[in-house]
Amino acid sequence: MKPSSFNFIDLFAGVGGFHIAMENLGGSCVFASEIDAHARAVYENNFGILPYGDITLIDEKEVPAHNVLCAGFPCQSFSKAGNREGINDPRGTLFFDIIRIAQYHQPEYLLLENVRNLAGHDNGNTWKVIKHNLDEIGYNCPEFPFIFSPHYIGIPQFRERVFILCKRKDLDDIQPFIFDKKNIPESSISTILSENSEIENLKKYQLKDEEIKLIEIWNDFFKICRNDLPGFPIWTDYFTDDIDHEIVNSFPFWKKNFVYKNIHLYLSKKKQFNQWLKKARKNTLFYGAKAKFEWQAGKNPEGDIWNTIMQFRPSGIRVKKPTYFPALVAITQTSIVGELGRRITPREAARLQSFPDDFKLHIEDRSAYKQFGNAVNAKLAELFAAHLFERNDRVKEIINR
Ligand SMILES: C[S@@+](CC[C@H](N)C(=O)[O-])C[C@H]1O[C@@H](n2cnc3c(N)ncnc32)[C@H](O)[C@@H]1O
Repeated sequence: MKPSSFNFIDLFAGVGGFHIAMENLGGSCVFASEIDAHARAVYENNFGILPYGDITLIDEKEVPAHNVLCAGFPCQSFSKAGNREGINDPRGTLFFDIIRIAQYHQPEYLLLENVRNLAGHDNGNTWKVIKHNLDEIGYNCPEFPFIFSPHYIGIPQFRERVFILCKRKDLDDIQPFIFDKKNIPESSISTILSENSEIENLKKYQLKDEEIKLIEIWNDFFKICRNDLPGFPIWTDYFTDDIDHEIVNSFPFWKKNFVYKNIHLYLSKKKQFNQWLKKARKNTLFYGAKAKFEWQAGKNPEGDIWNTIMQFRPSGIRVKKPTYFPALVAITQTSIVGELGRRITPREAARLQSFPDDFKLHIEDRSAYKQFGNAVNAKLAELFAAHLFERNDRVKEIINR
């Protein structure tokens, strides 16, 4: 393959994180497959290629010849046997669709991406099965997959993912990928944020009045605890001195531990917390997960809670330092930028995944957030492809961007 012009295929294509990466390196897409109709429409709108649907229904002989196979395949379980017959999860077959296509076409390179937990999934069995099958069809890949996050190169998103790089065995070995995590640059969320004045339908993303009041309530909590912010989750249902110990003792250890920590915290400033709770419980949102709080913004914070990134999660309101965003996910827990009083927009989510600003988004925000939550970060896909193709100048450029 010529380093600067090659053909690639994009399996489990989503909205095309790999497509952007490969085109940046001079690649042309000759085939894509994606089962979700909304993602397919976005892909076609941006790249002029309508992906084929369900990969399990596509005969490998119908797929055009290619130099590089890219796939961000869904995570899955494999049985210990590690063969097709031994799969115990219906989604487990999807990895073998990659294998059957690669086995037939024998492209020079494969570049696969998956969730962080794949590396240790099922006590390492999942990785063993993947490596074994790649080896069987004629590919070298490193002993362990690379684990990498956009924030390692200054993109403000914490999103550790595994990248599996494979080279056909008749080519030379894959060079070691050397990256010193001690030199991770400081990232800043401002690099992906738009000015409020630039945002269409700004109101849609701004916090509602009752949400602002709810955050103010937690800001008051923050002020009470400022010098000694607890690292354990705050569960205000247990801010009481009238607890049924028999019930608590029936809880699993981890839960019992948190319950007693909450009771001790409450008793340490009972008068202040009683006043605070009286006011808090007047807010219509202060119940369930919104009456729980997870401080994850470190010790000695500057300013107040409005200087953080927040998420309304099923486990409580989670608060983080404003250095990088938590991983975008397919479900809706869109991050709130405290300082701006709003959630991030789909365009900002696209930037977190290194999609360019001329990328045409799905018209419905819900779909757009989901699609970027599923996507591979395009810059990291490019980084690992460049490494695989030994385009070392490009690797350096991306790392030192
Ligand atoms: C982790 S996402 C990959 C996203 C992609 N890398 C991107 O940058 O947008 C996995 C994708 O596989 C798709 N998928 C799941 N099962 C499939 C199948 N049987 N055939 C084709 N696509 C499938 C899902 O709809 C999802 O978009």
